[in-house]
Amino acid sequence: MLQKEEMKKEDTGSQFYDFKTELWKYQGEMGALIPLLQSAQEAYGYIPESAIDHISEVVEIPGAEIYGVITFYSQFRLKPMGKNIIKICDGTACHVNASTGILKALEDELQIMNNETTDDGLFTLQKVACLGCCSLSPVIMINDDTFGRLTPKKVKELIKEFRENGKA
Ligand code: FES
Repeated sequence: MLQKEEMKKEDTGSQFYDFKTELWKYQGEMGALIPLLQSAQEAYGYIPESAIDHISEVVEIPGAEIYGVITFYSQFRLKPMGKNIIKICDGTACHVNASTGILKALEDELQIMNNETTDDGLFTLQKVACLGCCSLSPVIMINDDTFGRLTPKKVKELIKEFRENGKA
């Protein structure tokens, strides 16, 4: 196991330093796993492999098990957020107006699931509650732009357009 001094040396100057200093309070405490994962994600925007290694040493849980926990909870990300964030509304009005089909079209087009980022780092997909423009349902937002009255076909074209026009 790494000693605290070794860890300090290794990570001096990195954003991870404060996070890891905090970690030592929880040495051997399995119950601290979730708060530690949340803390890593807060520090980095996702949970990097190095954070998993260190958390594994602190809580004394094998890294493979920690991966299992991360993939179980949709709040955790193993990759940084994409350049473009797509929010798909799952509020009542959108749900009634077939937002499930829009989500499926996005998943097909981007080859990712909710809360994941495409391999090229261009898009992250997030299912969210009401976006506040129910009269346009079903609705998505790409970054700050809102797109409403969508169909699966329209949403696929929209993503293609984003890619082709270099907006993405
Ligand atoms: S329910 Fe989708 S915008 Fe309100």
